[in-house]
Amino acid sequence: MTAETNVLVTGGAGYIGSHAVLALLDAGKRPVVIDNLVTGFRWAIPENVTFYEGNVADADLVARIIREERIDAIMHFAGSIIVPESVENPLKYYGNNTAASRSLIESALTNGVRHFIFSSTAATYGIPESSPVREGMPTLPINPYGMSKLMTEYMLRDVAAAHDFNYCALRYFNVAGADPSARSGQSTAGATHLIKVAVEAALGKRDSVAIFGTDYATADGTGVRDYIHVSDLAAAHVIALDALLTDPASSHILNCGYGHGYSVLEVLDAVDRVTNQMLDRKIEGRRAGDPDELISDNRAIKSRFGWQPRFDNLDTIVAHALQWERKLSR
Ligand code: UD1
Repeated sequence: MTAETNVLVTGGAGYIGSHAVLALLDAGKRPVVIDNLVTGFRWAIPENVTFYEGNVADADLVARIIREERIDAIMHFAGSIIVPESVENPLKYYGNNTAASRSLIESALTNGVRHFIFSSTAATYGIPESSPVREGMPTLPINPYGMSKLMTEYMLRDVAAAHDFNYCALRYFNVAGADPSARSGQSTAGATHLIKVAVEAALGKRDSVAIFGTDYATADGTGVRDYIHVSDLAAAHVIALDALLTDPASSHILNCGYGHGYSVLEVLDAVDRVTNQMLDRKIEGRRAGDPDELISDNRAIKSRFGWQPRFDNLDTIVAHALQWERKLSR
């Protein structure tokens, strides 16, 4: 019997973090959550998981957790994620994302945690020079959100070069869906992303769905994205954890997506199909900063980690999102 792996999950009460907690439990690991509950929910953390309410930049608290819970690795999800807000209030993003991560990485180093998994984003690429986008392509973020995450990648790279420390930065594409057994899902009110908005509309929580632009350089003129099921993404984190523990000399920066995309119209068609009704669609102008198409090249994560998606099906993603949305309304 090997000793249990204790993993500190920051932002474990949030959307992706709560699914990572479930994936860790399912894999027989022991997650410990720290979350300030600004956007997360206490109820999203299972009863049997140890929870600390607080900030990842609170070095005294993090040191105490690492010591008392014998933390082996950190999965860092906590942060701010709204792109337009990052443009209006960049210092919030450099504070909550970059500066808080710097503090957390330092807490890891000084308290002997040598493995770090970081929630990064396709927004680090900016407008990719070609699609599908590979990890080695230039990273030129077009907003402070992407830059705040890229700066954290740089810190991790430099710390791993200088110390006995390894990391995996996972660059997420468009995360969607919910736990297949409806144990968690996207719960934040006022969410702006497409599948969440569309299932809310399907359940009558909104009157209509806006289509932001029909003149993009795509087959049907609407934006194309690589939607990845949140449970497949969570599973990638657990595989990354095992890889870091097995080979402490290796670090990784990897895309997380399915390697193919769907347009806004295709997503709305899927919602109509799954719900057997017709969404009220409103064509609007382009939203600032939206690229035509954002699709991952996912060959690296597949070949390096043997990651295999289980829910690479748009109707399944929509069905799970819908199931969760129904549960939220009860
Ligand atoms: C998402 C993430 C962002 C991440 C990026 C990386 C969210 C809120 N944003 O951005 O953090 O860095 O992926 O790939 O999860 N659309 C509509 N109507 C709507 C909402 C969206 O037409 O009501 C369109 C958008 O114009 C876009 C597509 O749907 O073409 C997806 O938009 P959205 O779900 O907001 O995600 P991204 O902006 O791609």
